[in-house]
Amino acid sequence: RVADVSPAHQADLVIVANRLPVDRVHLPDGSVSWRRSPGGLVTALEPVLRANDGAWIGWPGSADDEEVEPFVEDGLSLVPVSLSAREVEEFYEGFSNGTLWPLYHDVIAKPEFHREWWESYVEVNRRFADRAAEVAADGATVWVQDYQLQLVPQMLREQRPDLRIGFYLHIPFPPAELFSQLPWRRQILEGLLGADLIGFQLPGAAANFVRLVRSRVGHKTHRDTIYLPDGRPVKATAFPISIDTAGFEELARSEGVEKRAAEIREALGNPRRIFLGVDRLDYTKGIFSRLRAFGELVRDGHLDVEDAVFVQVATPSRERVEQYRILRDDIERLVGGINGDHGRIGRPAISYMHSSYPREEMAALYRAADVMVVTPFRDGMNLVAKEYVACRYDNDGALVLSEFAGAAAELRQAWLVNPYDIDGMKATLLEAFAADEKETSRRMRAMRKTVLTHDVAKWARDFLDELGSIPEHHDKSVRR
Ligand code: ADP
Ligand code: F6P
Repeated sequence: RVADVSPAHQADLVIVANRLPVDRVHLPDGSVSWRRSPGGLVTALEPVLRANDGAWIGWPGSADDEEVEPFVEDGLSLVPVSLSAREVEEFYEGFSNGTLWPLYHDVIAKPEFHREWWESYVEVNRRFADRAAEVAADGATVWVQDYQLQLVPQMLREQRPDLRIGFYLHIPFPPAELFSQLPWRRQILEGLLGADLIGFQLPGAAANFVRLVRSRVGHKTHRDTIYLPDGRPVKATAFPISIDTAGFEELARSEGVEKRAAEIREALGNPRRIFLGVDRLDYTKGIFSRLRAFGELVRDGHLDVEDAVFVQVATPSRERVEQYRILRDDIERLVGGINGDHGRIGRPAISYMHSSYPREEMAALYRAADVMVVTPFRDGMNLVAKEYVACRYDNDGALVLSEFAGAAAELRQAWLVNPYDIDGMKATLLEAFAADEKETSRRMRAMRKTVLTHDVAKWARDFLDELGSIPEHHDKSVRR
């Protein structure tokens, strides 16, 4: 491992995200190794960093670790930022995932507002901003990611007015009626306005933000541009994120993945249809309702366990946050109940795994599945839906997709559902189960066209080109 990023070796492109693309794991023999971090942000940005040769600043995922020097892992230049156990509790589990996450996802769970959590959020955002100020070369582009770091753009601009600063929000941005609950709403808006360009998943989210800035901060706005009192323009625009489509397809076509997909079907008893759910175990994802809908279809005799099995893979996530613990227990009880009532020997109705898998295994699951079920109550984009489409190079396979996932704006040919409507979801699952080849192929062909043309390289290019085209602003009042 060579340390090639240091204040002496600065980068022209710096990605700043809460997590590094890899998590540090302590092995039983006392040694340390690195494992891919969970979530869509890493899936999307890893190929971008690889293609653009920059540095990535982030947290290595464990508490109270001694500060580690910048290092290179699997060809990526990584700059770790440490969090204390208390900061993990207050900044990460607290303000990021107990306040902002539910507030920005339609208050599906009740957000909690605690002043100590906010203080920790400010402190940790400052640490990330300081690190970015050290690592960025003169005139560099710094691209700050997601809801955990919304104060970084302003903090960074104060120290380094020479930088081009972009911000991208991977999750939804709520309507004013919800956002306004936040006691620190003005500070968050002002923090974001430190950027030159603020990217959102959907146009509606960008419009929510512009409207809030106008009403709460009082800045002038015109369409997607906000004018600050010193004349600096800030653009707030939608850039729907995507995946490395060709990379996924190539993986899906590999011999190893095809072989593994056949093995998976075989192990499940070669049922007529395999339903698949793949999510972080999160209450926004609608896992419980979807399994309930499937369970009722089996209970009522619309589906038979000889014909159909539901494979649900749930990545462990935010396990110390109470809502996530409750959800895990609820799902385990539900799966146990459905399998106990309707399963037969060697034929469970639901095959449930609470685990994370390598990309090859994910691709094999996508290849093995006839019906992919993605039913979040609210989701910024949902990359799983796009990954499934990327892997279906024969234009087969049915995608059942929530209309509340950002992906639904692009994947219009999916079987769209309202996840709050259990009967509606049941009817749609049956339709997708019974759909003929012509129908699935017509839909899949159209969706593949979208995902192949709008891949993550295009997303990053669109964002960075737009950021690069914003004229430099010289504010005489700020000195470096
Ligand atoms: P989020 O960012 O909220 O987690 P996305 O659907 O956008 O949701 O992204 C999830 C990413 O995590 C996808 O790239 C998916 O392949 C990956 N993933 C989800 N579940 C698992 C799992 N059990 N094992 C490995 N990767 C997973
Ligand atoms: O945008 C999705 C996202 O919340 C990322 O910001 C985050 O890194 C990922 O999902 C996984 O969540 P966590 O980092 O809390 O494990």
